[in-house]
Amino acid sequence: MLKDRKGWRLQYHLMPPDGWLNDPNGLCQFQGIYHIFFQYSPNTPGPDGRFARTWGHYAGRDLLHLKYTGVPFWPTDPIDCNGCYSGSALTEGDHIRLYYTGNVKEPGNHDYTYSGRQANEILVETDGENFGEKNCLLTNRDYPENCSCHVRDPKVWKEGDTYYMILGARVKGPDLSADTDFGEVLFYQSDDGVHWNFLKALTSEKRFGYMWECPDYFCLGGKTFLSLCPQGLPEEEYRYQNIYQSGYFTVEGSLNDAQCLHDFREWDYGFDFYAPQSFVDERGRRLFIGWVGMPDAPYANPTAEPAGKGWENCLTVPRELSFENGIIHQNPVEELKDLRYDETPVMPHGSMILPDGAGDFEISFLEGTGDLDWSICFGDGAVLSYQEDVLRLTISDSAGFGRKERKVIIPDIEFLRILVDSSLLEIYVNDGEYVITSRFYPAYTGDHQNLNVRFSCDLAAVTGWKMKTMETNMNLV
Ligand code: FRU
Repeated sequence: MLKDRKGWRLQYHLMPPDGWLNDPNGLCQFQGIYHIFFQYSPNTPGPDGRFARTWGHYAGRDLLHLKYTGVPFWPTDPIDCNGCYSGSALTEGDHIRLYYTGNVKEPGNHDYTYSGRQANEILVETDGENFGEKNCLLTNRDYPENCSCHVRDPKVWKEGDTYYMILGARVKGPDLSADTDFGEVLFYQSDDGVHWNFLKALTSEKRFGYMWECPDYFCLGGKTFLSLCPQGLPEEEYRYQNIYQSGYFTVEGSLNDAQCLHDFREWDYGFDFYAPQSFVDERGRRLFIGWVGMPDAPYANPTAEPAGKGWENCLTVPRELSFENGIIHQNPVEELKDLRYDETPVMPHGSMILPDGAGDFEISFLEGTGDLDWSICFGDGAVLSYQEDVLRLTISDSAGFGRKERKVIIPDIEFLRILVDSSLLEIYVNDGEYVITSRFYPAYTGDHQNLNVRFSCDLAAVTGWKMKTMETNMNLV
C-alpha cells in the first residue's frame, strides 16, 4: 500500500512544505538563532518547477525546533530573473550577509554554457527577519576570460580583516565540450565584503570533471579542505557511482601562495547526496548539511505525484565534522538524540517495529568480529549487507523508483549508526568514516505506518530507539 500524498513525509528531516527543494544555502547561527535556507521552487515539484529557483528559509533557537518562515526573496529582478541560485551566509555585527548567484538566461539562440547565461554574485543583508535590497557585486566580466558561463555558488568567510569568496566554475577546454572543459574554483578577496578583487584560480593537477559546483573551503583539525561537487567523473565500480559527485580535497599551501589539491574523498556513498555546505555554530562546532537528492539522476521520487501538488527532496540531519586519523568524520549532531524514545535492545537476529518508519539504531560489533557477514532489512524496501569487505545497500524494485545498488569497500566495520526516517536512510559507518544516504519508498501498512527493521548480525550488540516527530515537521503537515 502506498502512503498517500503526505505519506513518505519525513519525521525529523527538513523538507519543503510543498514543491521542490535542493541545496542547503546560507547556513549560519546569528544571535543564537540557527538559519537554514535552501534552494526552493514552491508549489511545483520537479527540477523545472513553475517558479525559477529561489530560497526557502527555516529558523529557530535550536536545530530541532526550526520554523519554516517562507521565501525571503524572489527571482524577480533583471540580475536574478532565472533563479536565486545557491550561496552562503556571513554573520557580522548586527546583521547576516547572504551571498548568492543570480542566474540570468538571455533571450536568443544560446547554448547557455558558452553564451547567453549571466552569473551575478549578489549580496542581501538581513537581521534574520527583514531582508534588504539586492546588491550585485560581480558579473561575468569579473571572471577570468577562460571561464564558461557556469560560475556560481559563492561561499564567503573572513580571516582577520580580509574577506574571501570562493566560486565554482567550468573552464573552457579546446573542444568547448564536456570532454575537455574542466572544473576549478575561483578565489576573490575584499576589504569590506562588497568590493571584490580576483585573487586566483585553483584546480587539480589532473583534470577532474568538467564543472565544480558548490565549493566550500575550511580548516579542521589544523588541515585545510576544499569541498566541491565535480561533474563528469567516469563511473567506477566502487567510486563515483552517481551521475555527479560530492567530496573533498586536502589542500596543501596557503591562499596567498602556491597550493595543491590531493586525496579526493567522497562525502557519501548513497544515491542521494549532493551540494553540502558547512558552517561554524556559536558552540564552535563545524556543522554540515547536505541535500538528500541528486540533479539529473536516472531515478525518481514518487512524492512528486500528483503532478503539480507533490513535494520532492529533503536535507540531511545536521552533521558535526571532526578530523581524526587523516580523514573527516561526519556524525549526526548530538541533540538529535533528544528525539529518541523507547530504547530497545534488539536480539542479533531480532527485529523492531518503527511507527511512522522513524528510528535510530546503534550497532556495535564485538572486537575482532568486524569482518563477519551480516545484513539488515528495512521493511520490503532496502537491505544493507556486509560481505567480504563490501558494504552494499540494495533497494528493492518496488521501493527504488530506479535506485538499485550502491556499494563501498570497507575493510572492517566496528560500529554503525543508522537513521531511518519514513523514506530515508542515513547510514554512518565507524563513527562517520563513511556515510551512505539514500531515499527509498517502502510499502507501509496499518494506521501507524509501521516499518519493520530485521537484523541478522551475529556477535553484535544492537540498540534501537523510536524517533519522535520533530516539532518543525508537525507544523508542516
Ligand atoms: C547544485 C546547483 C548549484 C546551483 C543550484 C541551482 O545542485 O546546480 O550549482 O546554484 O543547484 O538550484
